[in-house]
Amino acid sequence: MPDDFPLQSQTPDALMLFGFWYRALPANQVHRGQLAKTMLLEQPLVIGRDQQGQAFVLRDACPHRGMPLSCGQFDGQQIECSYHGWKFDAHSGQCKLIPSLVAEQSLKIDRIYAGSYPCEERDDFIWVFIPEPGPGGAGFSKPGPAPAPAPEIPKFSERYKLAYLTADLPCSVDHGIIGLMDPAHGPFVHQAWWWRTQKSIHEKQKNFEPIPYGFRMSAHTPSSNSAPYKLLRLYADADSISTTIDFVLPNLRSEIIRAGKYWFASLTTVTPITRSQCRIDVVAAWNLFRWIPFGPELLKFVFAKFVEQDRRTMELQSEGLKHNPHLMLIDDADRPAKWYFGLKNAMLEMKKNGGEFRHPMSGPVTLKWRS
Ligand code: FES
Ligand SMILES: [Fe+2]
Repeated sequence: MPDDFPLQSQTPDALMLFGFWYRALPANQVHRGQLAKTMLLEQPLVIGRDQQGQAFVLRDACPHRGMPLSCGQFDGQQIECSYHGWKFDAHSGQCKLIPSLVAEQSLKIDRIYAGSYPCEERDDFIWVFIPEPGPGGAGFSKPGPAPAPAPEIPKFSERYKLAYLTADLPCSVDHGIIGLMDPAHGPFVHQAWWWRTQKSIHEKQKNFEPIPYGFRMSAHTPSSNSAPYKLLRLYADADSISTTIDFVLPNLRSEIIRAGKYWFASLTTVTPITRSQCRIDVVAAWNLFRWIPFGPELLKFVFAKFVEQDRRTMELQSEGLKHNPHLMLIDDADRPAKWYFGLKNAMLEMKKNGGEFRHPMSGPVTLKWRS
């Protein structure tokens, strides 16, 4: 990828990556015997839980004439469409009943499927595997299993706490992701008197290395401006604290901070809802703060503030992006964004033409910027 790679070509009609796991809904928003609606990658989904509490996900459109199945009745096992009463198994999507059929009509109803999606519960979220868009006549095809398990936050002790934050962003998944990995906006967007000011801007140097389908900011002592770091310093020697940040396609940013026996890990995702809307979800796990009564609340407060600052910024940015202006990515601060586009292109290329994944990085790189 050339260095002057134009951002322009990526943004107007952002492509979404199919064939991956995506976070759909927080687990506590899906109740036993009830149906919830959501959308991922422009696909309307109905999510529910059976009598045993096991989650399932179907396409929210009846294969007969498209009525949303979320408008139907759910008995804890089968969903009955509200239009003509066809019934479907909630997990497999297989048709179980067509009330209009009379005895001598031999339609093989067990060959009809409402599209169903593999789903797994991880770290208080329901994840859904969104396969490549199928060929026509998908109403008759049985869904396959996901090729790999859903992503999970690594944990380094038996006991830990878990919390999440979420925000809707009025921009394409590409802008959401490059906003997330952009190091240069910190001093301007994330100011607070108790945190940092524009004056705290200073030169930084970080090492990056390629990893499968992504890149890693190599283990280092965290930036003195980083939120968990400021809190971790209360527990451990500054020198013993190390952090690793990974980005992996399609949308996963994971951060692990370890300080002796204490640890903090987060997995942030930016999920395409439609071509022009995405959602950021930050889920964090940690074993800190066991003895500080307000520790988790403090951390959540700090993160909520950050996420809200990012959300507000992207809301304003979307005004400027409406009319498709020319944009640019500069070195070194926007190099991670260039890698992201390079990785995404390589993935799309591999899906289209087969062959090897051509990673945009050939080896370790040191980047410098002021922030
Ligand atoms: S649209 Fe669902 S049964 Fe007819
Ligand atoms: Fe930010």
